Amino acid sequence: VADRPLAGRHVLVTAGPTHEPIDPVRYLANRSSGRQGFAIARAAATLGARVTLVAGPVTLPTPAGVDRVDVQTAREMAAAVAGAMPADVAVMVAAVADWHVAPLDQKLKKTGSPPALTLIENPDILARLSVGADRPRLVVGFAAETERVIDHAVAKRGRKGCDWIVANDVSGDVMGGADNSVHLVTATGVESWETMTKDEVAIRLVRRIADELRERP
Ligand code: C5P
Repeated sequence: VADRPLAGRHVLVTAGPTHEPIDPVRYLANRSSGRQGFAIARAAATLGARVTLVAGPVTLPTPAGVDRVDVQTAREMAAAVAGAMPADVAVMVAAVADWHVAPLDQKLKKTGSPPALTLIENPDILARLSVGADRPRLVVGFAAETERVIDHAVAKRGRKGCDWIVANDVSGDVMGGADNSVHLVTATGVESWETMTKDEVAIRLVRRIADELRERP
């Protein structure tokens, strides 16, 4: 148990972007490599958890011992998350697109004036999970911010109804890179971690999760 403190636990992780099709060749998306989420899934499996990784379109190998569900759109991701319940812990790392459009069956042509896109709001998977009947014991969201990182993360924690927010400052080189600078926002305060690799962030976060579950069974 000492080195596998998450044995017997089910951890859900979302990772990567979502792609929202505009037509057969174009889509809307957020920037996300999926690296941080995949590292968290790997770390949770290493600590003994059963892990479901709901992944948007990324080019990363599935970590050993992890059940992966591939999705394209936010609505598919929402359905996959609901289908993976119950879970003890959810760590929502995906950079979910905020909007989708009604996709066209044929490729949009460049004729005359530029086309108008009507954006339709996507479900907020994290917010929905946080208030749902099958809410995991510990729900962790991520917040990518470019300024006033901690203020925005504290506000986001309240708005989303999750337990923790991992806030990362993406004003530098984080996107697609190996390193990450994060602050952990909980009910009791803010911990600012030194800059470390995404693998190190994952291990530290998953150890914190294991501690939390042990302290409040
Ligand atoms: O609102 P914002 O996108 O900044 O929130 C980020 C957090 O919310 C992340 O944990 C992300 O995975 C989650 N999220 C979600 N569904 C959405 C939008 C964001 O689960 N539609």
